[in-house]
Amino acid sequence: MSVRRILIVGSAGQVGVELQRSFADAGEIVGRDRDTVDLAVPEQVREMVRSAAPDIILNAAAYTAVDRAESEPEVAMTVNAEATRILAEEALRTSALLVHYSTDYVFDGSKVGPWVETDEPNPQNVYGASKLAGEEAIQNVGGKYLIFRTSWVYGPHGSNFLLTMLRLGRERESLNVVDDQIGAPTTSIELANATRTIVNGVLAGQFGADADWAGLYHMTCSGSVSWRGFAQAIFARAQSQLNGKSPTVHPIPSSAYPTPAKRPHNSVLSNEKLAARFGVRLAPWEVALDGVFEALGSR
Ligand SMILES: NC(=O)c1ccc[n+]([C@@H]2O[C@H](COP(=O)([O-])OP(=O)(O)OC[C@H]3O[C@@H](n4cnc5c(N)ncnc54)[C@H](OP(=O)(O)O)[C@@H]3O)[C@@H](O)[C@H]2O)c1
Repeated sequence: MSVRRILIVGSAGQVGVELQRSFADAGEIVGRDRDTVDLAVPEQVREMVRSAAPDIILNAAAYTAVDRAESEPEVAMTVNAEATRILAEEALRTSALLVHYSTDYVFDGSKVGPWVETDEPNPQNVYGASKLAGEEAIQNVGGKYLIFRTSWVYGPHGSNFLLTMLRLGRERESLNVVDDQIGAPTTSIELANATRTIVNGVLAGQFGADADWAGLYHMTCSGSVSWRGFAQAIFARAQSQLNGKSPTVHPIPSSAYPTPAKRPHNSVLSNEKLAARFGVRLAPWEVALDGVFEALGSR
């Protein structure tokens, strides 16, 4: 077989950067980001795929500005749903494998206990609604696809909660952080590594025919914590970045930190379907957090 061509859409984002690393020896990588394509322009999306002629499309791009999406619903919908539909159509046309990421924000947060894939989505904000529309677009087109719903993504690159906390920790003695939203912080590193493992298995025929594995799966680090607990865990590990300082983290309710977009109280996703189908489990969130500090230390 000739060398596989792997199109990474959103290659400069948090997950995109890690996918470039985890797939580096899997074939010929074609990375595309905002400097080469505008995903809000459908013709550019189609042209991007046709000129790359990939065997695998890894879509790590998304309109991820959750609060800004409330005032830019059309752009969010075009990037997260319309561009995603075109990727699915182009993948189907050439029998390429499409890997796509979605979000815990498709749920309303009201469940007691982890959300499973068969739970009814009920997004509470524009971003969640646009990501749900993207999932549905792929499912309607069909073909060889994997949708991984994940949550609270962060890592050594990009803009995320951990890097924001490290910056604020240098500037302040104490912080107020929301304590009534619970989720599973998930690293871009863990996501990219698990994606590579599963794609390897799919390509090797390890999981059977397309219909046996194609579908929607939850994929997060295990365990759960509030944003405040996550901030405390970050500061407990950040001594060298903060010159020995350790800011106090006060708990506040979401109502004391109003944002344009409403967020779910319980964002915890069950990973049992992923484990049962592919034999893959991401690390506990605390272990994955250690991994990000190691990566930051080696930069
Ligand atoms: N971040 C989270 O907490 C989280 C949680 C659950 C699920 N997810 C999902 O996980 C996936 C990866 O997220 P991430 O955190 O890696 O996101 P990210 O760091 O924001 O990366 C997304 C990439 O998409 C690019 N992009 C956005 N709009 C574009 C456009 N119109 N044209 C071209 N490129 C565009 C962004 O470029 P710019 O930076 O220039 O905009 C960025 O490089 C996404 O599907 C996201 O919905 C993320």
